[in-house]
Amino acid sequence: MTSESTQPQPSYDDITGVHLAPADAAELAAIRTPLHAAPPSEEVTDILPRVFGPAPRPAAETLRDADDEISAAYAAARPVSDGELSSLDAREVSAWFGDHKVLERVSLTMPAGQVTALIGPSGCGKSTFLRILNRMHELVPSASLAGEVMLDGADIYDRSRKLTDARRHIGMVFQKPNPFPAMSIYDNVVAGLKLTGIRASRDQRDEIVERSLVSAGLWKEVRDRLRQPGGGLSGGQQQRLCIARSLAVKPKVLLMDEPCSALDPTSTRVIEETMGELQHEVTIVIVTHNMQQAQRVSQQCAFFLASQGTPGGIVEFGDTDAMFSEPQDERTYDYVNGRFG
Ligand SMILES: Nc1ncnc2c1ncn2[C@@H]1O[C@H](COP(=O)(O)OP(=O)(O)OP(=O)(O)O)[C@@H](O)[C@H]1O
Ligand SMILES: [Mg+2]
Repeated sequence: MTSESTQPQPSYDDITGVHLAPADAAELAAIRTPLHAAPPSEEVTDILPRVFGPAPRPAAETLRDADDEISAAYAAARPVSDGELSSLDAREVSAWFGDHKVLERVSLTMPAGQVTALIGPSGCGKSTFLRILNRMHELVPSASLAGEVMLDGADIYDRSRKLTDARRHIGMVFQKPNPFPAMSIYDNVVAGLKLTGIRASRDQRDEIVERSLVSAGLWKEVRDRLRQPGGGLSGGQQQRLCIARSLAVKPKVLLMDEPCSALDPTSTRVIEETMGELQHEVTIVIVTHNMQQAQRVSQQCAFFLASQGTPGGIVEFGDTDAMFSEPQDERTYDYVNGRFG
């Protein structure tokens, strides 16, 4: 038997889109099982931070501040974010899994209030790049990175900044809808608040749930059954529930990794329409393999490519319409016209 065949193989986790070592996969399964089975309870609240990293357990004073902040923020009907749209700027980002370099000095500006689409063949590093944008890459055992990610000019990797701040300001929606199926629709939406340590009164929670579901384009369909389990919704509705959960904490940026790839055309259209409305409130970055979708939803587009055996990088970036009608690089032309990938 060769030593290679005795090595435990990482398994692909289709909820987070991360390849996990067997021990980590087992640990995550042990954490998720009670989450998915349990009714909403304090116990579940305690488990959530273990899945998503250490959530702050703020001192009473901080909590009061947070309450004041929330009260002020939700006092009037208002958009998801604070009104000021944020830009995200990746500078010379490189990434490794162990010794394997998968991204090479990727720089990309994702302008405020716009949808930026990341396109490119499988394995070129799009998901890795996206996970670096909200500090999820560092969850992967053996993963490392270099470079900077600036949110409104401040590096989210700065040592003085908390991991949970990055996750709160930069939300993520995954390929496979992952609501907590046994939790009610209502509790699914507020789960994000608990994750980031935000306390809110009952009235504030009601308002946040309604606002988030309206923004995610789901309110009308679920307003009369908020107490029913999230798992009872259709796939498309579940994905919009996950979008609502992300929006509940008022993110500045929403990252979406192939959010429609598991959905039917009708649900896809609804999500795309939702994105069109959301982009006035939150900056969006979406990974998609669907060229028509990239053209429909995005204003900026980045084409990623990893040539044989080399790390992924951006071949071309710019205005989406221009990229599809007059690509500057021959490889972009071939990819957007379906010649490979
Ligand atoms: N946890 C991991 N451990 C080791 N290598 C990984 C891990 N996750 C991803 N990779 C490798 O990193 C490279 C980039 O993968 P990534 O998932 O970012 O690509 P992608 O562009 O999102 O692909 P797809 O379009 O198929 O989703 C690939 O070579 C992949 O095998
Ligand atoms: Mg991917």
